[in-house]
Amino acid sequence: MISASSCFVFLPISFFMECLLSLLLFLNLCSTVDKFEVIVPLVPVVADEGSDIVLPCKLSPQTSVIGMHVRWFRQKFSEYVYLYKDKMETVGSGYEGRASLFSTELEKGNVSLLLKEVKISDEGPYKCHVSRLESFAEPQLQLTVKRQGSVPLIEVEKLEKDSLKLRCSSQGWYPEPQMVWMDKKG
Ligand SMILES: *[C@@H]1O[C@H](CO)[C@@H](O)[C@H](O)[C@H]1NC(C)=O
Repeated sequence: MISASSCFVFLPISFFMECLLSLLLFLNLCSTVDKFEVIVPLVPVVADEGSDIVLPCKLSPQTSVIGMHVRWFRQKFSEYVYLYKDKMETVGSGYEGRASLFSTELEKGNVSLLLKEVKISDEGPYKCHVSRLESFAEPQLQLTVKRQGSVPLIEVEKLEKDSLKLRCSSQGWYPEPQMVWMDKKG
C-alpha cells in the first residue's frame, strides 16, 4: 500500500521535473544562441594616406563582446588584420602596430577597428566578423584611401608664331585625377 502510493506520487513528480528540466535546457539554449546584429557603415569610409582611421563596427542590441570572437579580415578569413579571441588580441602581419580595437569599448559592443598610418594598399573591403558559439555575423565595409598630389604646374611647351602649347602637370594623386582646362570664364 505504501509502496503503491509512493509510486503514484513519484511518477508525476518525475514527469514534472523532466518537463522543467527540458524547459530550462531550452531556455538556456535560447540565451546562448541569442541573436545580435553586427552593424557597419554602408557608405565607404574615406581616409587620407598616412592618417589614422576608425572602421566602425558595433553590435546591436548593445552586447558585450568580452569572451566572443572578433576578427577583422579582408579577403581570407585566415589572413586577419586583427583577431580578438579567448580574450587575447593578435595583430595580423603587415598591420603590426597599426591595428587595434578600443579595449574600453568592448563591453559596449563597439568593435570598431583603429587603423593607423593608412596606406594606399589598405584600400578595399573589410569584414567585421563577430561570433559566439553558433551565432555569427560578418558584414563588410569599404575603405577608400586618397592622396592629394602636387599643385598643378603649367609650363609653355612650345611657342610658335600664332600658337602656344601649354603643358599642365601634377604628381602623386590617388586615385588618378581628372584634368580639365578652363579659361577665365570657367
Ligand atoms: C566606438 O569607439 C570609438 C573610439 O572611442 C569611437 O570613436 C566610436 O564613436 C565608437 N562607436 C560607437 C558606435 O559608439
